[in-house]
Amino acid sequence: MSDLKGYRKPWWHTQPEYVHPAYGSTVKRGPLQPLIEIPATLSEVTGPVFSATTIGKHAADLTAGHAGESIGERIIVTGRVLDENGKALSNTLLEIWQCNAAGRYLHEGDLHDAPLDPNFTGLGQVVTDAEGRYRFTTIRPGEYPWRNHYNAWRPAHIHFSLFGEAFAQRLVTQMYFPGDPLLPFDPIFNCIADEKARNRLVSSLDWENSKSEFALAYRFDIVLRGRHQTPWEK
Ligand SMILES: [Fe+2]
Repeated sequence: MSDLKGYRKPWWHTQPEYVHPAYGSTVKRGPLQPLIEIPATLSEVTGPVFSATTIGKHAADLTAGHAGESIGERIIVTGRVLDENGKALSNTLLEIWQCNAAGRYLHEGDLHDAPLDPNFTGLGQVVTDAEGRYRFTTIRPGEYPWRNHYNAWRPAHIHFSLFGEAFAQRLVTQMYFPGDPLLPFDPIFNCIADEKARNRLVSSLDWENSKSEFALAYRFDIVLRGRHQTPWEK
């Protein structure tokens, strides 16, 4: 849908295509007409203010708060939220959701025949600190099948939502893991035309934040705008 690309200048190729036929549901939901700009009103340009006290005690540790241990490989995910000039964004609410180690979401819409883990819900929240840093502990998510095409499997990923200063500033994306052999076959990952932009969604192994005999860490920085913008889902 090259006629739509002009609406995402100047770096349209760093963002997912609205309509990417290999990713079946985009054909049903993607816009086929030029976008119309609707002036924002007060309800879109305002929003709640967050701080570290906003979230619950176990919100940044998805392995905590259950009766027993979550099953799977424990990992730490950390990074910074930055603007186009590298300025840190503090007090930004990040919400994450993911499947468990077996590739199953705790969601009624997930019909995959894999076991649920009673000690893992897959939902987390964290607020960035003064340097724009976030950090959460979780379980490495499994790959799971989806029905986009025959033998379709999603690479391991964690969904991220960032809440800005206003209701209209919610941004959603996915973080992947380095070296995942499923990435070249995933139409969601590959609907971002630019290879470098695509690879900005792949975290890197983070020795510095790994904890010996506890958990490996992965680093995933998030850039809101500009030439190095993180690709966002529309
Ligand atoms: Fe997912």
